[in-house]
Amino acid sequence: MDGRDLVRSVKAVGSAGAAQGLRTVRAAWRRRRADAAGLPERGAERARVPGPVREVEPGPGGGVVRFARSELQITVTASGAVFWGWDGAGPEPSYALADRSPEADPRAVLEPDKDGAWRVVAERVTVIVSRHGAVEVLTPGGVLLRRDLPPRWWEPATGGTARWMQRSEVPADARFFGLGGRASGPRLREGTYRLWNTDPGHTFVPGDDPLYITMPVQMVVADAGTHLVFHDTSWDGTVTLREGEEGAGSGHDRAGRSELRVDGGPLRCWMVVGTPARVLHTWAALTGAPALPPAWALGHHHARWGFGSEQEVRRIVSGYREHDLPLDAVHLDIDHYDAHQVFTVDKERFPKLPVLAEELRRGGIRLVSIVDPAVRAEPGNEVYDGGTAEDAFVRDAAGRTVEGVVWAGESVYPDFTRAQVREWWGGLYEERLAQGFAGFWHDMNEPTSFTAFGENTLPRSARHDLDGRGGDHREAHNVYALCMARAGYEGLRRLVPEERPFLFSRSGWVGMQRYGGTWSGDVATGWPGLRASLSLVMGLGLCGVPYSGPDVGGFDGSPSPELYLRWFQLGAYLPLFRTHASLRAGRREPWEFGGEVLAHARVALVGRRRLLPYFMTLAHLARRTGAPYVRPVWWGAPEDRALRDCEDAFLLGDSLLVAPVLDPGADRRAVQLPRGRWYDTVTEEVYEGPGQVLVEAPLSRIPVLARAGAVLPVRGSDGGLELEAWAPDHGRTGGGLVVADAGEGWDEPEVERYVTRWKKRQVVVKRGGHDGRGEPPYPVRVRGLARP
Ligand code: GLC
Repeated sequence: MDGRDLVRSVKAVGSAGAAQGLRTVRAAWRRRRADAAGLPERGAERARVPGPVREVEPGPGGGVVRFARSELQITVTASGAVFWGWDGAGPEPSYALADRSPEADPRAVLEPDKDGAWRVVAERVTVIVSRHGAVEVLTPGGVLLRRDLPPRWWEPATGGTARWMQRSEVPADARFFGLGGRASGPRLREGTYRLWNTDPGHTFVPGDDPLYITMPVQMVVADAGTHLVFHDTSWDGTVTLREGEEGAGSGHDRAGRSELRVDGGPLRCWMVVGTPARVLHTWAALTGAPALPPAWALGHHHARWGFGSEQEVRRIVSGYREHDLPLDAVHLDIDHYDAHQVFTVDKERFPKLPVLAEELRRGGIRLVSIVDPAVRAEPGNEVYDGGTAEDAFVRDAAGRTVEGVVWAGESVYPDFTRAQVREWWGGLYEERLAQGFAGFWHDMNEPTSFTAFGENTLPRSARHDLDGRGGDHREAHNVYALCMARAGYEGLRRLVPEERPFLFSRSGWVGMQRYGGTWSGDVATGWPGLRASLSLVMGLGLCGVPYSGPDVGGFDGSPSPELYLRWFQLGAYLPLFRTHASLRAGRREPWEFGGEVLAHARVALVGRRRLLPYFMTLAHLARRTGAPYVRPVWWGAPEDRALRDCEDAFLLGDSLLVAPVLDPGADRRAVQLPRGRWYDTVTEEVYEGPGQVLVEAPLSRIPVLARAGAVLPVRGSDGGLELEAWAPDHGRTGGGLVVADAGEGWDEPEVERYVTRWKKRQVVVKRGGHDGRGEPPYPVRVRGLARP
């Protein structure tokens, strides 16, 4: 959204733009005044470092190292993750962890190392604590993965939370990834990245930072190994990264550096070491398994801000039908609300929503509703009255309810960091379910308040419950949307226990995958925006959030037919495949861009439908192993440096490599291949990796390559499951996993394993696993035989 959208949308509900402007200015003033009154001046500060080591107390998994001015708890857990916390910080309480912190590994203990240092040797890592408080993490073979220099704190002389800084070094060849949803990347180059979830207030392009989801999570990939590091604090901060440089054998390598500065909260850290797959597996065990979407959520979604009426929804849906285009969900934006108030319906323009929903559902299409957190502050508004009775809304230090300005005008904000408020809010989805909605799209939950200047969120002094601990918005801001997602998810679990909730959220934090996914927010229409939308999906996947996707076509303006098509073709291979655009943007229906685009978009849609069983399998694997559907090409070969630097292609599961077209005018493109044989899935042309190859990319399709030996489940022409097997390289075998799931309810289908091999001059596909070499229960189609 931008200012013009705001004015237009306010006009649409009858208020004058000028009045709205005045309200936003007033809100900004109020926010400033509240902060001035509610937050102590920082004043003079005293710097502190740990000082020399004094004593050591071994304990399960490690122990405590006491320094002159701080202490450090280290615990290697049985899951392989290492925790360390300064100044007495333990792993709990935490909004990131799914459960209690994992058990300590009883075999790991602190023991003396050289030069007065101490070390913990565990199966997968060695941790060395120097006598001044540097923490080094090494592989079992003794190669350094990361060195944290002794931290530094700045404490206000008058007391209160300390700011702190943690400098770290990584090997010279290391590459940084992660930090949540970033518009540039996925490789995070030199720069400063902020840790404060933000609605940028305009459509974004690569380089705009921060955006809606920020996370203090880094994935670092180096020759020595891959590690993920997470500083468990929700406070505002920055991460400054600088990649290292190798001295080409001169012995003068410059280490890569990361400098984390945070405004408060505990200095505590989790680190996981291993292959990328192992790292994300352990990470998912720690922060929670990704929610399993229902099958329809893996299909195509069409959204629009401004359908404006039931007739328009019907018109779009029949357009899809008439043009023979698969469609699985339609999303209703704020314009279907009554005066933009969440949990209401504009009865004039949407008089019979439940009837419409039922009609669509019979045609296999689900309705998804936007849900904004802010509630119009107006007695008589049911949600406001209900929330007031619950004392649900955020207050300031003086006890007054905090007001902001959002679509519905002056609004108040539920404090989702309070369990009772989450329960109340979760119950409100009953109204949505009664309207026939099957899925939920959380928006504006950074949370956003339009203010004329400064930061467009709540005052930092606003008070939050923080699940009984109490605190202010400085600490609660980044977890606000996470807690809202929890409220929605748990509410839906109570209301419809037999169904998998479908929820995705613009903002969030570490652990948000437990409740659902996200989308890329208001990405700018243009080729740079297309690139950014891929960076976001890949970066989020490496932080444990596997389900996301962009607004296909971009949020604003009008994409050229070529840009629209290339975006559409990319979207068809991303977990969330949704067209969406702003109120004032041009059309986004596939038939609005001419016959050629329509034909190619149909191919993309039909291809997506065919791959649904594969997407469903990937959803199950994400849930069981933490592996994202969309993986960087270095996933299985992080030691391949050329792959590490490749940002314009991705692996979709184990079997496919997708190489989207991200530049105008291209009809072929270079692709950096991992080792092995790859087939163009359309021409069956063979390519050999590792290395760079040139592949055809006509307007009709983006290159998608299949790994030799892969077996993947697809939807056959009769709708049933089929196996598509790609001939293994000669003398080799291959295989694939299948989770045959109709996509509803909570059944836990088993993971089926299939293997491929050459037998005489034929490729055979058998059921793998201990029960032996049975025939697959599905039709099998072997491809890639043209050039044995
Ligand atoms: C925000 C959302 C966008 C939505 C609009 C109106 O800009 O990011 O997706 O369409 O609000 O609700």
